[in-house]
Amino acid sequence: MELLPIFLDIRDKPCLVVGGGEVAGRKAGLLLRAGARIRVIAPGLGPTLSSLKQQQAINHEAREYRKEDLGQATLVVAATDDAGLNRRISREAQRSGTPVNVVDQPELSSFIMPSIIDRSPVIAAVSTGGASPVLARLIRARLESLIPAGYGRLAELASRYRERVKQRFSDTTARRRFWEDVLQGGVAERVFSGHLEEADRLMEQALAEKRPSGEAGEVYLIGGGPGDPDLLTFRALRLMQRADVVVYDRLVAEPILDLVRRDAERIYAGKENSHHTLSQGEINRLLVKLARQGKRVVRLKGGDPFIFGRGGEEIDTLAEQGIPFQVVPGITAASGCASYAGIPITHRDYAHAAVFVTGHLKDDHLDLNWEMLAQPNQTVVFYMGLHGLPLICRKLVEHGVPPEMPAALVQQGTTPQQRVFTGTIATLAEIAAREKPRPPTLIMVGEVVRLRDKLNWYHT
Ligand SMILES: C[S@@+](CC[C@H](N)C(=O)[O-])C[C@H]1O[C@@H](n2cnc3c(N)ncnc32)[C@H](O)[C@@H]1O
Repeated sequence: MELLPIFLDIRDKPCLVVGGGEVAGRKAGLLLRAGARIRVIAPGLGPTLSSLKQQQAINHEAREYRKEDLGQATLVVAATDDAGLNRRISREAQRSGTPVNVVDQPELSSFIMPSIIDRSPVIAAVSTGGASPVLARLIRARLESLIPAGYGRLAELASRYRERVKQRFSDTTARRRFWEDVLQGGVAERVFSGHLEEADRLMEQALAEKRPSGEAGEVYLIGGGPGDPDLLTFRALRLMQRADVVVYDRLVAEPILDLVRRDAERIYAGKENSHHTLSQGEINRLLVKLARQGKRVVRLKGGDPFIFGRGGEEIDTLAEQGIPFQVVPGITAASGCASYAGIPITHRDYAHAAVFVTGHLKDDHLDLNWEMLAQPNQTVVFYMGLHGLPLICRKLVEHGVPPEMPAALVQQGTTPQQRVFTGTIATLAEIAAREKPRPPTLIMVGEVVRLRDKLNWYHT
């Protein structure tokens, strides 16, 4: 090990920053986050330090550095653009025993500042010993995605219960096991989802029973997005990795399903157009039954569960039955398809509003507010509209939309199978009859469709 990682308490301690530019500003910002008292020596200040000075967060002396400035400084950061001066500060600081960091020059520094993941009070630090700050940043980015934002709150909870847990478990192994279960189990999940009172209740219960509680079943209603697995949220992925069982719809793409914990039981809930595998009532009851068996149930849906996903009905039953649940939003098809087709849904020149509407035919009819859908300067997105496409286009024209209004079909948006067809509402049905797009397909109607010619970036 070339360097010893240590965490320094600099709260209320005097720290010296030499240099007034943006790099010095960033270092000063970091020291401030750790509670330091900062003195900046520099003839002039850039925007960041000027603004910190205005807020009276730093003391600034507008002059050149002098050796005496090191004084009682707990540490010094040299961030000037004068290589000779940086070397001098390094030499003088090392002689006086003051820890010194010269920005981007590990050979002149007695300490370096690592890349950090800040979930205060939890801090993870990454260093490559100055060999490659970019590599350190890349590793940091990976860790950022792995460490839930709620870890800080979890650490606070652990700190509050620390003494009581110690008293409850005199045996250190039992205590360690207890904490391991608590910090990975139901209590942690409650904290991450913002249910702090519930987390406390489970902790109290666990302490009373001398075993981790909160392991009772619960349901995670998760939006799996439109198809590209990279579009899943961090939370979705984490909960999918904890699942005992996953109940999934037809719309959930295989690569997304593959991200569920390998040993989790898989239950297909179907919902293919007009031949549902399980009825909605059966799905609702199944979720309750599985959770009552103490299982962590992932209910995985395409897109967002609350946008044409019947997510509301499913959690309605869970709420009635007192089953704990959380809802994880996903990227809805309109958003995913728009981005991957290069068709912005709103645009200052073309569309000031957007309407998401179902184009699902009921007995060959579409009971929609056509006057509203025919308004100008908006984008109308039809979900489940492929079968009803000819009727949709006809109705729009009947209600005053010009036949030359641009329109697009996006098949299997965001996936390698994505196909996009553009035309007008007068031609789109014909195009569909010829090209035979496969479900799921989304219909977008509005002037914004014109922008695709220029903005298309995703080539399949
Ligand atoms: C029952 S809705 C579910 C919508 C989903 N909850 C969401 O937020 O995207 C199914 C419809 O969404 C649209 N859809 C879903 N995923 C799609 C995709 N990847 N590409 C195009 N359309 C999609 C299709 O119009 C499909 O008929």
